Amino acid sequence: MVLIEKVVADILERVETEPVSLRGAIEDFFSIHRELVPIRGVVLAMSLAILRRYRVLDEISRHVLGLDPYSVNAYKRNLLRVVIYELRFREHLRARDAMRLLNKAGLFTDSISLNKVRSIDIHDLVKGKSYVEKLSIRYSFPRWVILKLLAKWNRTFVEHMLKRMNKPSTLWLRINTLKIGIEEAMRGLRSRGIEAIRDSELFDVLKVVRGGRRLVGLDLVRNGLVYIQDKASCAVAHVLNPCPGELIVDMCSAPGSKATHIAQLGQDKVLLIGLDISHRRLISEQKLASNLGVRGIDLIMCDSRKFMLRTKADKVLVDPDCSSIGKMGHSPELRLKVKEEDLGRLVSLQRELMMRAIDLCRRGGIIVYSTCTTTTEENEALIRNIIDEHGLEVEEIAFGAKSPKLGKAKYFLPHVHDTIGFFIVKLRV
Ligand SMILES: C[S@@+](CC[C@H](N)C(=O)[O-])C[C@H]1O[C@@H](n2cnc3c(N)ncnc32)[C@H](O)[C@@H]1O
Repeated sequence: MVLIEKVVADILERVETEPVSLRGAIEDFFSIHRELVPIRGVVLAMSLAILRRYRVLDEISRHVLGLDPYSVNAYKRNLLRVVIYELRFREHLRARDAMRLLNKAGLFTDSISLNKVRSIDIHDLVKGKSYVEKLSIRYSFPRWVILKLLAKWNRTFVEHMLKRMNKPSTLWLRINTLKIGIEEAMRGLRSRGIEAIRDSELFDVLKVVRGGRRLVGLDLVRNGLVYIQDKASCAVAHVLNPCPGELIVDMCSAPGSKATHIAQLGQDKVLLIGLDISHRRLISEQKLASNLGVRGIDLIMCDSRKFMLRTKADKVLVDPDCSSIGKMGHSPELRLKVKEEDLGRLVSLQRELMMRAIDLCRRGGIIVYSTCTTTTEENEALIRNIIDEHGLEVEEIAFGAKSPKLGKAKYFLPHVHDTIGFFIVKLRV
């Protein structure tokens, strides 16, 4: 018999040790083990729930079972997390079965301790710890992330944000107006059991309020009439405001969510150059563009920091790799993968991309810079330095919440906008 606990531990081990996302690892696993596809939904739900509680589970392991999860290998660590999750949060496993499962993996404990796991109070786990450590354990985010958030927003605001990021994320859809009208798409969704309402700010964006599970494998998605894309990400193309005939460079283009949207808003009549350093991701972008019926993107594989153009672009988009704090709710595996030490490298990359963007853009042209993170280093500080050095103007953006550190720059935030956390700034060169 296949134990779901072992499957989840297997997948989480891979996610923790390899450069693969949770959803990617689940897809790989079930493409090999096709006979197990019926448990796929449960495996995803359990994996998300465990990752959103990883610090609580690790603390329980240390304090109740006396087992330090970081003294064992990644498979055992994740098996421990799964078993503790099942005992404490799902009451799904008998202590006897839990003990057998752990013992078989070489993790020795007794049924009395396992029974204690069921009743442990989270307040007791964090008693006596500092405020930052309490938040870090209770909401299961790395300490450095908590510190970054508290450096920008007050305690109540941060706690609301963390709480929202531990709940299922809202699904947003972009209607591909190159292929279908908004009303027709809404009728099509409704007739398939999906209730989605129009966003009040972005005319081509819908919020799914019921039936989101039906989107998996849905014909409207498969045929490129409707595209699953968070509202915050959709806002970028609207801020860029592409017009037919403009020359636009998207410097970090793959897998193409924003580039295909730019093409869509420009009625597929913009001259759009999509650059990316990753061949694999550009292949995905090519497939996406073809699926959405977008023809006008020229894809080029290169390091955009060295990209040269004979003429100047009207608009440039810089949507670089970042520390992804804003996606740690939707993709909680990022909490284990992204390290504070990554920040230095990311900021250098972002800065170098921006310097090139300024070179590529004509005077009076527009640069939009966006990230799915909230750190001041990667957002306001980086942009402020560049503004000061190059005299760029920050332009108004009609939606989102004001950045507390750079007024006209905007944030989309999980607990305010029901989106991923996201930063956008619009600059005139
Ligand atoms: C946040 S993702 C972009 C997402 C994309 N804009 C979209 O909407 O689908 C960042 C991208 O930057 C690319 N990248 C990283 N370093 C780069 C570089 N030096 N030159 C070009 N692309 C780079 C990565 O391969 C990755 O695809």
